[in-house]
Amino acid sequence: MATTAEPEVPDHVPPELVRKVDLVLGEDFLKDPYAFLSSMHDDLPRLFWNTGSVPGNGWVTISQPLAFKALRDPDHFDVPPLFIFPRDEDNWFRMIPLEITAPDHRKFRNILDPMLSPRGVLALENDIRALANQLIDQFVDKGECEFTTQFARPLPVMVFLNFMGLPVEKLDQFVEWVVSLIQFADFGRAKEIMGEIEAYLTSVIEEKRANPDDKAISRIVHTTFDGEPMTERDVMGFTFFLFIAGIDTVYAALNNSWLWMARHPERVKELVADPDNRDLQTEELLRAFAPTFSGRYLTQDLELDGVTLKKGDSFTSFLPACNYDPEIWDNPKEIDFTRVKKPILTFTGGIHSCMGGHLARLEFRIGLNEWLKRIPEFSLRPGAEIRYVPSGVVGPESVPLVW
Ligand code: HEM
Repeated sequence: MATTAEPEVPDHVPPELVRKVDLVLGEDFLKDPYAFLSSMHDDLPRLFWNTGSVPGNGWVTISQPLAFKALRDPDHFDVPPLFIFPRDEDNWFRMIPLEITAPDHRKFRNILDPMLSPRGVLALENDIRALANQLIDQFVDKGECEFTTQFARPLPVMVFLNFMGLPVEKLDQFVEWVVSLIQFADFGRAKEIMGEIEAYLTSVIEEKRANPDDKAISRIVHTTFDGEPMTERDVMGFTFFLFIAGIDTVYAALNNSWLWMARHPERVKELVADPDNRDLQTEELLRAFAPTFSGRYLTQDLELDGVTLKKGDSFTSFLPACNYDPEIWDNPKEIDFTRVKKPILTFTGGIHSCMGGHLARLEFRIGLNEWLKRIPEFSLRPGAEIRYVPSGVVGPESVPLVW
């Protein structure tokens, strides 16, 4: 019988900090990810060396303060090339801004920051509200919907495509590409998908070069730095990364939160009764159901939390678990809409904090508000099977609801 060799633990790692936990690919994780994530503090150290499956042989932190410390220290921690997005070695592009270090990184972010600032996204408020209601119109009288495909996905993805200046009719194709990549498509298929997305974006970039508009891709295409246009490879890298980052994260967060609400009708009553508290409710649900992680590696040796980390070590901030850190939150497993607001890690921290965080929060808040106004009582369809597949973004595949 074939056996998988145990990964080698480097000598500088104290043996008492070595654990073997199968994280995003593990059976226990996939059975109920947020039960798993919220319980990690019960029996794991806040910083450990993990030999289990993805994120693989390296440091993992589940501590909110340690994660913030690492994420805010670009002198010691850098972003590795994202392995799930294989690129052509001879025609490489950098995933911008995530794979860029300071100070260059800031000049790229400046291009879109005005559109994505708290003020910038407010310009989208009325459109998001109208879209949420149009989607609800399509199923409210039927007494049921498949939440993922009928609300969680079209709401943020249509807003995002409009922000980018991409055609909403291709929504299904875009979602399929991105979800396959994030779900660790096999290497051959991942390379094909990368080629398909790149070919598509190349034609969009040409079109925006000829016919500028005020949307994100066109702004990137027409940016100059000190009078010089951005290189063609950097235009591709920025457009490509945005395309990956903006598609499935918000809908995973919505899926996770609506699944929880469908299972807790008494808590939905509490939400319905308090429409003036949507900001805190949004923040608490986003704390409880963060869908993704921050991977880094050490660029030089460092002492952290009394432990020596060595240059080259991999270091993952397990953000959803950090959001359940009992050092920071009382009763962290409880979803409590009256909590005093504290910094959550859902959108990570430091220079690479999520560019879409304000947009995502706005979409979430409006989605929650419009939904609860029109569908204040709902539950899971009896017999519905909730399934999670291995992915870099955590969320159920489908959430069938009835009311
Ligand atoms: C609930 C929704 C979202 C979540 C949970 C989320 C989460 C994250 C996280 C954790 C990172 C950091 C990754 C790392 O540190 O390795 C990140 C970065 C990023 N996100 Fe989001 N994201 C969301 C929505 C969006 C949207 C809608 C957009 C686009 C409009 C977006 C654009 C970006 C970009 C461009 C970066 C890279 C920032 C940089 O490197 O400076 N995100 N996001």
